[in-house]
Amino acid sequence: MAMTSLERAEAAEHAMSQELDRIVVKSVIYTSGDRDPRQPLPPQQSQGKLYMMGHDPRLPRMPEKPTLFDFFKYRFGPSAHVLQSARLARKNGVSEKIVLACLLHDISVMGFIRGDHGYWGAQLVEPYVDEEVSWAIRHHQVLRFFADEAYGYKYPDSYIRLFGADYQPEPHIQEAYRRAREHKWYETCRLITVNDLYAFDPNVKVELEEFTDVVGRHFRQPKEGLGFDQSPSAHMWRTMNHPTKYL
Ligand SMILES: [Fe+2]
Ligand SMILES: [Fe+2]
Repeated sequence: MAMTSLERAEAAEHAMSQELDRIVVKSVIYTSGDRDPRQPLPPQQSQGKLYMMGHDPRLPRMPEKPTLFDFFKYRFGPSAHVLQSARLARKNGVSEKIVLACLLHDISVMGFIRGDHGYWGAQLVEPYVDEEVSWAIRHHQVLRFFADEAYGYKYPDSYIRLFGADYQPEPHIQEAYRRAREHKWYETCRLITVNDLYAFDPNVKVELEEFTDVVGRHFRQPKEGLGFDQSPSAHMWRTMNHPTKYL
């Protein structure tokens, strides 16, 4: 019987994991939807092999004490969007804290989880930044759906292309927006959306090092390295460092 595309993908994956010294089993969230999570995983021919419990050799190895910039360099996808947003924010004369918020606002999309990325991103950085910065990152995702003429922020054309003209944010998003609107840090968050460049110039190259000073002053880098410092979000950084760890 012919294999379905899912079976082919799983067979390819299986062959790939056979080439590694260790068996890699993807977390449910990576595959849920592509496969029905209720179905048992295909049997692994482990042949005495051990399961992945640390560094995945398919990825660049991170330093022992990884910094925020190490995650940008070794684990995050292309960062032109956040770099250009942070540069624009600086050009627009906002405070350094907001420049940092712009630099970090989409790191969850770049390195962790897309859906609810504002919330995940805020949680990642919360132990290391001012509360105002993580609050703004958490809510930017919601505010992006709501225009504010006072700040010259219109509903993004790109959202119409991406989600359709009739897309309506769900009730919990509407409620989160109403609450954010009343919050003392509304403006900080709104300024992330104002500087959130979605039509950026592919010819402009912004280096991470342009923000070394801002990060140095406003991001409390743990001395043990991100992931190894016992903070409430350390495990999330470890997961990005070792995304295929079995347990
Ligand atoms: Fe975002
Ligand atoms: Fe963004």
